[in-house]
Amino acid sequence: MKILVIGQGGREHTLVWKIAQSPLVEKIYCAPGNAGIAQIAEPIPMPDNFAELADWAESTNIDLTIVGPENPLAAGIVDVFHERGLKAFGPDKQAAQLEGSKDFAKQLMVENDIPTASYRTFVDADEAIDYIKTNNKSVFVKADGLAAGKGVIPGRTIGEATQAVKTILVDRAFGDAGDSVVIEEELIGEEASFTVLTDGSFCLPFVSSQDHKMSHDGDTGQNTGGMGAYSPAPVMTPELHDYVMEHVVYPTVNGMANIGCPFKGVLYVGLMITDAGPKVLEFNCRFGDPETQVLLPRLKSDLVPLMMACIDGTLDQHADVEWHAEAAACVVMASGGYPNPYQTGKTITGLTDASSIDGVTVFHAGTDRDEENVITAGGRVLGVTALADDLKSAIEQAYRGVDAIHFDDAHWRTDIGYRALSRI
Ligand code: AMP
Ligand code: GLY
Repeated sequence: MKILVIGQGGREHTLVWKIAQSPLVEKIYCAPGNAGIAQIAEPIPMPDNFAELADWAESTNIDLTIVGPENPLAAGIVDVFHERGLKAFGPDKQAAQLEGSKDFAKQLMVENDIPTASYRTFVDADEAIDYIKTNNKSVFVKADGLAAGKGVIPGRTIGEATQAVKTILVDRAFGDAGDSVVIEEELIGEEASFTVLTDGSFCLPFVSSQDHKMSHDGDTGQNTGGMGAYSPAPVMTPELHDYVMEHVVYPTVNGMANIGCPFKGVLYVGLMITDAGPKVLEFNCRFGDPETQVLLPRLKSDLVPLMMACIDGTLDQHADVEWHAEAAACVVMASGGYPNPYQTGKTITGLTDASSIDGVTVFHAGTDRDEENVITAGGRVLGVTALADDLKSAIEQAYRGVDAIHFDDAHWRTDIGYRALSRI
């Protein structure tokens, strides 16, 4: 098979790395890719429009296109490929609203009795602020649309929540993504990510994982795309797993099918494990980044037939998927300053040394090449990942990998997995 992967981050490097191990795969292309991806897949430029990319895929006889990030999914890339009869993995535009509109997701949850925080949606700033004052509770204020993970602002005081509403609705800090705001009650507990593959009716759960969203140790600093991840997440007990499948995953997938929006692809559920049980924080319509970096190294089965089965509606024939017993940890090395503005173009050394450490794989995120070297080209630069017998060893090995790598102003968290380690 010839496969095209769309995207350029750590998630896409991991996808390409996993797919390259499939005996079904003859050649992988990636649009646009990064320096790590370019070692195993042929990079192609990402054209301005999806039709051009579909033309290329048609003339190159691509058998399967895998879409990594949410933006092209929400913009309808899968619809364009399907109209040409090309197989593309991921939800279509309508189904991608589950991530693309927080209000859409909240309505679906209410209609299907899926546990989540109580909420109100507003388009008018004055009405939103009146609600904040009368409600007088600690809330989270969220831009309705896609805002690269930045559109969620805590509002723990009336002042903070009011400012968040102004940032989104008045200052329009996230553009059209902030045409409306969702204001929801703050949930207290420990977070966990729950990932399933689905063909629109059958759901295949992945092993559990957890990421660290805050930029600095002790979960302090600023919200980022994710500074590290680990799998399994001990907070996700077998009982909670069953509960989430029954009360969250199936009601969501069935609910989408019932409104004529069958959801096919990866459903990523962000959960808060509260004293009253798991509640949904968010849905994503694609693999998590950096969760993918710890999930796919643990997947023993071939990913390609699973993805084809999601498209073809035959996923129930793959329920016996196999996992490695080892645990995985990923430490993200970021450019100094991230998630605020940062410099790029710094030379990265030690990549080969890191990769030669037992169990370690270095996934590239924001990297590029100059004439001689791999250089930094983004906020999150590398995901140094290790697979080992238990979580503690996986974390230690990942940090050995980090110690072997150097670039100027590199920043990473030194406490990835601390919550998990305190549980075991
Ligand atoms: P989201 O993109 O909606 O998952 O929000 C990003 C992060 O904000 C989550 O991972 C949580 O840490 C936090 N968050 C979002 N909504 C809530 C909530 N209702 N209660 C507590 N934390 C929240
Ligand atoms: N790591 C969180 C996400 O991918 O949305």
